[in-house]
Amino acid sequence: MTVFITGARGFVMSVLMRRLLESDPDCRIVAADITEPDDLLIRSLGEGAGRVEFRMLDVRDGHAVSEAISAAAPDVVVHGATVTHVPEWEVADPARFIDVNVMGTTRVLDAARSTPSVRKVVHVSSAAVYGPGTGDPGPLPEDAPLLPDEMYGVSKVASELVARRFGQLYDLDVPIVRFTKVFGPMERPSASRASMSLPFHLASALVNGHPTALTERTSRAVGDWVSAVDVADALVALCGDTAVRSGTYNLASGSFVDVPELIDLFGADVVEAPAGGAAVDMDPDLRDGKNGCYSVQRAADDLGWRPRDLRTQVAEYVAWAHDHPECFPARA
Ligand SMILES: NC(=O)c1ccc[n+]([C@@H]2O[C@H](COP(=O)([O-])OP(=O)(O)OC[C@H]3O[C@@H](n4cnc5c(N)ncnc54)[C@H](O)[C@@H]3O)[C@@H](O)[C@H]2O)c1
Repeated sequence: MTVFITGARGFVMSVLMRRLLESDPDCRIVAADITEPDDLLIRSLGEGAGRVEFRMLDVRDGHAVSEAISAAAPDVVVHGATVTHVPEWEVADPARFIDVNVMGTTRVLDAARSTPSVRKVVHVSSAAVYGPGTGDPGPLPEDAPLLPDEMYGVSKVASELVARRFGQLYDLDVPIVRFTKVFGPMERPSASRASMSLPFHLASALVNGHPTALTERTSRAVGDWVSAVDVADALVALCGDTAVRSGTYNLASGSFVDVPELIDLFGADVVEAPAGGAAVDMDPDLRDGKNGCYSVQRAADDLGWRPRDLRTQVAEYVAWAHDHPECFPARA
């Protein structure tokens, strides 16, 4: 199987590449991104690195996308390239979210449908599509109302609709996955990651031997966190010969975890700090919509996928973090 991945240098797609190479000794990957691969990514692929071809690619460039996908002749495309939500980026350049997340998706799908080898495009979306929510305590099913409030969520809803239409027009399999708060191995600061997850900061505290500074209210907040390793396993299943054609899947833990419980699982020390001086500030009142928890029943039924126990996910990440201190700059 040959898999063409966009956004391959990013956090979650880096983990996916490793899992694909491990799960199928015949798997080849064409790893496309606007940014060059870093040493950590290449090292993380181990012996499988020889089966990966890296390509510099801007998904906004339709001609380059067509040429790259046609030359790769993949069986499956996983489209993970994205601009993620950063308030300053949204104000400074709202059109970039549409250019990359909507038009980029359109370019990738158009190239995929014109390439005869492609049997499936896995489109990566986000729980941001649920927006602020409607007061539903969840777990939210995939058919909950889509009410995005930020350009990132707006662009993800639009890209999902575009993906679905391509599937209908060209009889292409286009499953859509919506991730929740993902953490785990390979999350690292980069040009595209302006803010790091709470688990990243907790791991950083362990690696650097300093407490994580949180605002007081963060200790009353909740979240639905899942490891990138578990998410990647669902994507590996989707890339394979599943009967799945075009469903939409939440990839989440399926339930809330209190922040203090998460801190306990990490065994990290925390200190209270004012908003300006804290690494993380979470609002305890935000617990639905894009800040909710999500049903994973559909992924369980169709893919046989369930995330592992959170304790196991965290323990795996903490071990990885200690082996990769270079990913945790001292002040993170
Ligand atoms: N990490 C999370 O918690 C989370 C949550 C919900 C959804 N997602 C989705 O998962 C996917 C991967 O997210 P991530 O967290 O790994 O993000 P990331 O920022 O680490 O990776 C995104 C990658 O896309 C690349 N990219 C950006 N613009 C590009 C362009 N014009 N052309 C080609 N490549 C471009 C970046 O260089 C980067 O490597 C995204 O689609 C994102 O929306 C992630």
